[in-house]
Amino acid sequence: MILERSGSIMKSYFDIEGDGGSDVIAQVEAQQEAVREALSGVRNLVAVGSGKGGVGKSTVTMGLAQALKGRGASVAILDADFNGPCQAHLAGLDAHPWIPSPQGLAVPRRQDGIGVVSMGSLVPASQPVSFSTVSHGDEHVWRSTKEFAVLGQLLSSMAWGSLDFLLFDLPPGAERTVQYADFLPSGVSFVLVTVPSDISRSVVARSVSALAGTSAQMLGYVENMAGYFCRDCGEIKPLFPSSGTKLDLPLLGRVPFDPELASLCDSGWPERRDEAHKAVEAIHVVAENLLQALEAQE
Ligand SMILES: Nc1ncnc2c1ncn2[C@@H]1O[C@H](COP(=O)(O)OP(=O)(O)O)[C@@H](O)[C@H]1O
Ligand SMILES: [Mg+2]
Repeated sequence: MILERSGSIMKSYFDIEGDGGSDVIAQVEAQQEAVREALSGVRNLVAVGSGKGGVGKSTVTMGLAQALKGRGASVAILDADFNGPCQAHLAGLDAHPWIPSPQGLAVPRRQDGIGVVSMGSLVPASQPVSFSTVSHGDEHVWRSTKEFAVLGQLLSSMAWGSLDFLLFDLPPGAERTVQYADFLPSGVSFVLVTVPSDISRSVVARSVSALAGTSAQMLGYVENMAGYFCRDCGEIKPLFPSSGTKLDLPLLGRVPFDPELASLCDSGWPERRDEAHKAVEAIHVVAENLLQALEAQE
């Protein structure tokens, strides 16, 4: 059926033969090749996900970056949470342009050298990030496609250079987590973050079983907000009821809720991180276990 609308001829879906000449497969392969090429100097790709929102994925990602950096590794973060970007703020890189260089867009860096690529550096505070400028018709059908087109373009346009670690700070959603596993180059490893409540664990368990159906490796999980560090008495007190249930993955570490860490995050997680020593020490243990898990994989 051919429709005529304002002089132009529009074909219906059934009139289009094959992929309509767009050669989708070749386009996807070309994009994947460009991503592989851009990341060829990166030794380890580690995605920090969960499925659940608000459990501390972004906080743990930045903490891990700092702990790995402290061990002499070169590290960068890609904030893949395009709609809720936090990393630019955590890194003190709000309103920070991406400058073109002969090798691609230069990765913005914190004072300590950690590279951070986050939509929060480009899109002014309080404005939503919108993919509507990349319009292909039905928003509902294409939104996630656009998100991954943007991810592919970002990965291939940045001058990542030579890195020991590129950490991905993922958005929430089990289905999304799996899409990232399918999209990212093979060899990406996952760290999952939960808070120690049954509600959170049951959501993260969905991501674990969804990821089990992909080729991605799961290194283990982090229990964040595992107790509340009381600054008055210096003790870690219970925060969530302990039901004793666990995820079917190695536990990489337990990080307490430290009010000082929450305030450091709000103020841009500056070099004063040692003030939140309880949480920071715990994240160091996670980094150590992560390195061991990666070594065991080799
Ligand atoms: N261990 C912790 N101690 C103190 N505050 C924390 C801790 N983990 C996360 N937070 C705070 O909790 C909030 C949610 O954390 P965030 O990392 O943004 O979660 P997610 O990325 O999973 O949505 C932030 O305000 C962050 O500063
Ligand atoms: Mg986040």
